[in-house]
Amino acid sequence: MKIRRVVAAYFSPTGNTEKLAKAMARAVAEAAGLQAETLDFTRPEAREKTYEFGPDDLLIIGLPVYAGRLPNKILPFVQENLKGNGTLSLPFVCFGNRAFDDGIAELVYEQKNTGFRPAAAAAFVTQHAFATNLSAGRPKTQDIEDAKAIAIGLWKAVEAAGSAEDFADLTVDGNTPPGPYYRPKRMDGEPAVFLKAKPLTDVDKCVRCGTCARVCSMGSIDPEDVTNVPGICIKCQACVARCPMGAKYFDDPDFLSHKEMLEANFAEEKPNTVWI
Ligand SMILES: Cc1cc2nc3c(=O)[nH]c(=O)nc-3n(C[C@H](O)[C@H](O)[C@H](O)COP(=O)(O)O)c2cc1C
Ligand code: SF4
Ligand code: SF4
Repeated sequence: MKIRRVVAAYFSPTGNTEKLAKAMARAVAEAAGLQAETLDFTRPEAREKTYEFGPDDLLIIGLPVYAGRLPNKILPFVQENLKGNGTLSLPFVCFGNRAFDDGIAELVYEQKNTGFRPAAAAAFVTQHAFATNLSAGRPKTQDIEDAKAIAIGLWKAVEAAGSAEDFADLTVDGNTPPGPYYRPKRMDGEPAVFLKAKPLTDVDKCVRCGTCARVCSMGSIDPEDVTNVPGICIKCQACVARCPMGAKYFDDPDFLSHKEMLEANFAEEKPNTVWI
């Protein structure tokens, strides 16, 4: 069967998932003589619309693992705003070297429930958004090459297949439906409670460029006064990572202790995993 459209869809506050989704979609597009399309649902406006996919499309869809699952505030978009029609897909997750837990199982499960037929899946190790010493700098060149090889392998299998039904029911590691969210811990092993933590702004460094407000995945930063975060904060780190002046930071003690715990205990780099 022929793929007529390839789409890289991603939620990617700190950019790792975006890099991998685009690399995979471009590799397939190049092989198939197509232009890769993108569907970036990192910002709230993009999550207000519904997107339909047809039987000749290939959806390459990636999300980061948050607390061992898909980010809970983004899950409704995955469940309600993406509609497949027997559409082949390549779901993948990125995780910051602790564990992907039930993240990929949840994404594959939701894709199957919404008209998609996952034909391959992957979990990539990428730099941790806040415990930035973990898997620092990943995806590196080899990760990107691994991702492209997975996508091209899938495309070749699709070309050789008679129809989407030729792809068996894909199974991946993790619980289906997914289990409870991972509960973060502090250095002393006690639960780290930082649900309400919000980023602070070093006003001496801030040049009021407005970038943090523009990139906030929840649209929660007041563009008129970026020190004010009236909305929900999911700790995605987009504002911290993208502030050109390094002016955004978290000072919540439990959050910082959790970061320290992760960096102390999960330093040994894990491999990428693929399911076909
Ligand atoms: C709130 C939050 C929770 C996270 N939870 C996990 C986790 O449970 N396991 C893990 O290995 N990485 C975890 N990470 C790390 C991200 O999965 C990783 O940094 C990913 O690359 C972020 O994707 P992005 O760069 O596309 O935003 C978490 C990151 C954030 C911001
Ligand atoms: S991105 Fe940084 S410098 Fe720009 S407004 Fe936000 S805090 Fe200030
Ligand atoms: S305010 Fe919170 S949700 Fe918004 S970009 Fe910063 S860390 Fe992410």
